[in-house]
Amino acid sequence: MNQPLTHDAISVAAPEYVKNQKLIEWVAEVAALTKPDNIHWCDGSQAEYDRLCDLMVVAGSFKRLNPAKRKNSFLAISDPQDVARVEDRTFICSHNKDDAGPTNNWVAPDEMRATLKPLFAGCMRGRTMYVVPFSMGPIGSPIAHIGVELSDSPYVAINMRIMTRMGRAVIDQLGSNGEFVPCIHTVGKPLEAGEKDVVWPNNPTKYIVHYPETREIWSFGSGYGGNALLGKKCFALRIASTMGRDQGWFAEHMLILGVTSPEGRKYHIAAAFPSACGKTNFSMMIPPKGFEGWKVTTIGDDIAWIKPRKDAATGKTRFHAINPESGYFGVAPGTNRKTNPNCIDSLNQDVIFTNVALTDDGDVWWEGLTETPPAHLIDWQGKDWTPADGAAGRKAAHPNSRFTMAATNNPAVDPNWNDPDGVPIDAFLFGGRRSTTVPLVSEARDWEEGVYMAATMGSETTAAITGQVGVVRRDPFAMLAFAGYNMSDYFQHWLSLGKKLMASGAELPKIYCVNWFRKDEAGQFVWPGFGENMRVLAWILERVDGKAKGKETIFGICPEYKDLHWDGLDFSAEQFNDVISVSKSDWQAEVQLHSELFEQLKHRLPAELLATRSKIEQRLGS
Ligand code: OXD
Ligand code: MN
Repeated sequence: MNQPLTHDAISVAAPEYVKNQKLIEWVAEVAALTKPDNIHWCDGSQAEYDRLCDLMVVAGSFKRLNPAKRKNSFLAISDPQDVARVEDRTFICSHNKDDAGPTNNWVAPDEMRATLKPLFAGCMRGRTMYVVPFSMGPIGSPIAHIGVELSDSPYVAINMRIMTRMGRAVIDQLGSNGEFVPCIHTVGKPLEAGEKDVVWPNNPTKYIVHYPETREIWSFGSGYGGNALLGKKCFALRIASTMGRDQGWFAEHMLILGVTSPEGRKYHIAAAFPSACGKTNFSMMIPPKGFEGWKVTTIGDDIAWIKPRKDAATGKTRFHAINPESGYFGVAPGTNRKTNPNCIDSLNQDVIFTNVALTDDGDVWWEGLTETPPAHLIDWQGKDWTPADGAAGRKAAHPNSRFTMAATNNPAVDPNWNDPDGVPIDAFLFGGRRSTTVPLVSEARDWEEGVYMAATMGSETTAAITGQVGVVRRDPFAMLAFAGYNMSDYFQHWLSLGKKLMASGAELPKIYCVNWFRKDEAGQFVWPGFGENMRVLAWILERVDGKAKGKETIFGICPEYKDLHWDGLDFSAEQFNDVISVSKSDWQAEVQLHSELFEQLKHRLPAELLATRSKIEQRLGS
């Protein structure tokens, strides 16, 4: 439904099914500020989605892919200046600077509002403003929350329909009094009368702004990924983490997977890994040879909302998790039949590809998809590309190129992925990319040690991210870029909620630190990873059931060679030692690095973390 508006219009006729006065007034207020030519209330239907895709094709912003290769799928190519999240332009505007903490960019809310107001004034001129109502989590779930994004980008409306439960059903759920998180997004490129649009409008000036106290998101100047699809990092992590702090739950940068044993016992794992550590691959993993009868199923690949809930069966309180998203916005390069067969099988239809390369027969390609690249491609910048260009270091697909696909495309989607009650979590995993020091797997002795492991997590940067390879960046809980408040308070929230729940008799998940990335002296990965990570998962699940053995180390409890199942894999005790060993000298240096992090976060740092560090130091000294 399109509502023609004059630029001075301040009252906007909403469809008759919209009953929420606050929403209607807010849409009118934003329209009065941003002055779109039209307003479109998204109903979330397939017809609407198809129409928007066609509109993008006509505008030259989408290319329809060969339907014989990728049915109902499209390729979008962004401006080379707008290819990734812009962490340095991301702001947490709490009243008090300390509430944002030293790891976030902070500007006082009044000052930020004064900066943004002139930028947003008239910013949607010449464009349509899409009203995108969305539910993060199954509609009506007690763990879910609603947002409404106002965006002048049809790309956003299309992607939000895949990534969230979007449309009229959300408006119905909202009713007349429901709460929603208001999210305003503009590409920041108004069109003057008669001006021709560009293929990927954006603005060199970018602001991704969060007001945690009023739970608002304002995003200016980018059309890409987490900068623009505001349900994802902005709402589901930055704003939701502050809601979780205030309301007693967790919003985490975690995948969620189910594991079913051959006997039919079902477990659920939530796992946090920094970006570029293979989260999507892990969440869609296929168990290897030797694990016939085991099944891994995906609940989520990136974000988990986790609330304590009484288990209907046992009456015990446990953490239950939902995936607030309904699709995956995954990194394409490196995805292939070996690294993630389920993902490859998910990408045959109804996919939006962004910044990958185009083949001569209307298909897509990215580095790593096939061992031998096609003889000719159009690269992500629209230029001819041949393998000679690749040999010279020019990528055909951007390293952060993406696919957007519905969770239901995944052949391994968990039957309960959409369950409003969420799934009960048996274990939390935390893992970075570390070529030395951190063992393949270790179990925290208690909740506090687990929080310490997560808080001190580090990961080596990859060339794709910074150009500087192998530098360990501390990424506490994989939330460095996503915690919407002071990181020390965030640690305290994990400690306090755990303590409170334990005191009330709740059953808390065990916590594990994992590392798939140890290298040998020749610089080669020792652990085969991918599906073989099932061997580590199996040990974890046996520990959860109180069955498997382990050995005390400086840093938690680790398995010995005999404690893992090796059927189907040729992996020697020496190789295992290379990935599991915890060396005193490495750990002396590592604890030094933990201390550097704690120095940065010392204001409000929980005493429990310093006490846990002292215990490690004692073990190192003994
Ligand atoms: C993501 C990220 O896109 O973590 O999921 O960067
Ligand atoms: Mn992520």
